[in-house]
Amino acid sequence: MIALTLAEVAAAVGGTLDGADPDTVVTGPVEVDSRKVSPGGLFAAFVGENVDGHDYAATAVEAGAVAVLASRSVGVPAVLVDSVVEALGRLARTVVARAEGTAVVALTGSAGKTSTKDLIAQLLRRHGETVFPPGSLNNEIGHPMTALRVEESTRHLVMEMGARHKGDIEYLTSITPPRIGLVLNVGTAHVGEFGSQEAIAEAKGELVEALPADGAAILNADDRLVRAMASRTKAKVVLFGESPDAHVRATDVRLDATGRPSFTLTTPAGSAPVQLRLYGEHHVSNALAAAAVATELGMTVDDTAAALGEAGALSRWRMEVVDRADGVTVVNDAYNANPDSMRAALRALVSMGGRGPERRRTWAVLGEMRELGEDSLAEHDAIGRLAVRLDVTKLVAVGGREAACMELGARNEGSWGEESVLVSDADAAVELLRSQLRPGDVVLVKASRSVGLEKVAEALLADGAAR
Ligand SMILES: Nc1ncnc2c1ncn2[C@@H]1O[C@H](COP(=O)(O)OP(=O)(O)OP(=O)(O)O)[C@@H](O)[C@H]1O
Ligand SMILES: [Mg+2]
Repeated sequence: MIALTLAEVAAAVGGTLDGADPDTVVTGPVEVDSRKVSPGGLFAAFVGENVDGHDYAATAVEAGAVAVLASRSVGVPAVLVDSVVEALGRLARTVVARAEGTAVVALTGSAGKTSTKDLIAQLLRRHGETVFPPGSLNNEIGHPMTALRVEESTRHLVMEMGARHKGDIEYLTSITPPRIGLVLNVGTAHVGEFGSQEAIAEAKGELVEALPADGAAILNADDRLVRAMASRTKAKVVLFGESPDAHVRATDVRLDATGRPSFTLTTPAGSAPVQLRLYGEHHVSNALAAAAVATELGMTVDDTAAALGEAGALSRWRMEVVDRADGVTVVNDAYNANPDSMRAALRALVSMGGRGPERRRTWAVLGEMRELGEDSLAEHDAIGRLAVRLDVTKLVAVGGREAACMELGARNEGSWGEESVLVSDADAAVELLRSQLRPGDVVLVKASRSVGLEKVAEALLADGAAR
């Protein structure tokens, strides 16, 4: 963290010092877990469901914290505030405002935020110190915690911004005002809470509204609702996608037999071939978005293409591909699911199966996509149908009513019900697969996070290791 005195911290968060010396300097980091505190740090005390951080204030100070950010007196030096969550946000805002040499990049979208954030970070860190959150840490606590890691030497801060309600993104952009704002897609994630796609677009568009006139709004040219956000920003607009008028484009998109895409990247600064290490055609769009950000920050097209080719998956359970010793390939995409990402994953599965006589059998082990609202059953039905249309060898639908709907969709689209089967839970899916998998098969595992289908992928991989 950029060094601040306790007086500056108190002023930033609108708090009062309690038994603390105003001239003491906080050099960071800020921690919410007293066991992680290091000398010079600040400990933020939260009242959680089971533990109250205030009880660990003394331990944190013993470990070297110079003070505690707290909502009541704790008997050790503290900065007292009404809300520790809000105080963290305000402190982060102050730190980021002082980091004049740091370009803030913020991105949102219904699917692919974390994958794209990881891609952008892997491109930008070749050109300077880059701070970005691990995994999907993008809520009101994780977001400021990441921003607070910014130092004088930080050149880029890359932030994922999720929206569950109107106003969420506006709040996050007030903490870390972006110069570059990227919107990936609008899709159907969380449509249950928002009510409609238009309402989702309304909320995600808060990101481009927050951009300054000398900033850049990077928008998906292939997504109608994202493209329309161009009218909501003062910033310059950069379009990416496969549309002919996109500034950053992909042409000659191909998937190789392992499901990895290649394409020709064209930017205003020239063209270069790209071969991704990531699986699934949906990463073409993510890679273009990352390339547009890198181009905006001055990276050359050759450098961008080379960095894209080296970038791997930094966050787990997103199209994590592992080959078992017996030649069964397990694709663990159990991190999350919505209709868009289900379609993308099914297409990747089918391309991994290949064509012709060498074709491998493909299994789609799919569970419920949660929070889809009133369209839920129709969306599950559509995924079941798509699995059959893409010619997936077998759909294993896992779970209750939604899974049944998906399986019925497959049965109605296919013939004799041979393309699909319904099982009640993850254990039943594992049992079925154990009895039927053959060497060379490819298995995709995917559902909403809370379904916990990663258990299936883990069990299949454990079997493979035992062979
Ligand atoms: N551009 C894309 N279009 C559709 N699906 C995608 C895209 N990029 C990634 N996915 C798929 O979406 C799922 C979630 O990916 P990722 O974690 O990157 O998204 P996210 O937007 O960060 O999700 P969350 O809202 O849960 O944080 C994965 O299953 C991934 O395979
Ligand atoms: Mg995420």
